[in-house]
Amino acid sequence: MTTRMLEFMLNGRPRVDAVADNLLLLDYLREAIGLTGTKTGCDGGECGACTVLIDDRPRLSCLTLAASVQGRRVDTVESLGQDGQLSAVQRGFHEKLGSQCGYCTPGFIMASAGLLRRNPRPSEDEIRAALGSNICRCTGYVKIIEAVQYAAELHASGVTP
Ligand code: FES
Ligand code: FES
Repeated sequence: MTTRMLEFMLNGRPRVDAVADNLLLLDYLREAIGLTGTKTGCDGGECGACTVLIDDRPRLSCLTLAASVQGRRVDTVESLGQDGQLSAVQRGFHEKLGSQCGYCTPGFIMASAGLLRRNPRPSEDEIRAALGSNICRCTGYVKIIEAVQYAAELHASGVTP
C-alpha cells in the first residue's frame, strides 16, 4: 500500500501526517486522529452524518480520500464555538430543539454552517436544499429548519456560524 505525506489545515491549524492512498477522510478523522464528532452513518454517501467542510463547502467524508485534501482547509464540528461559547448553528440546534438522539446532528450542523458562510440569510427553500443530503430519523425536520433560521438571526447579530 502506498502512503504519502498529507499537509493541510485542520480546524484552523496546520497538520502533517503520513496517510495511505486509500484511507478515507472519515476514517482518518475518527480513527487516526480521534476526532469522533464526525459520524459514520450509512458509510455510502446516503445520510450526511459524515459531513465536514472542505474550503467551506460541505463534503461527505465517507466518499473523500484523505489524500485529496492536500493543501486544503478541512473543518469538522470540533472547530465550532470559541472560548467556550457555542457557534450560531450550535445554539440554533440546542435552543430550537433541532436535535433528539443527536447522531445526525454534527452532519446537519456542518452543512448548515457551510450554508451560512456562503449565504448568511438563506430562505427556507435554500435551507431545505442545503440540507437535502442529510437524513434525520428522529426530528421530522421542522425543528431543524427552525434551528437554522434562528442561527441565521444569531449570525446577523454577530455570532459566528
Ligand atoms: S456516512 Fe457518509 S453519507 Fe452516510
Ligand atoms: S436526531 Fe436522531 S437521527 Fe437526527
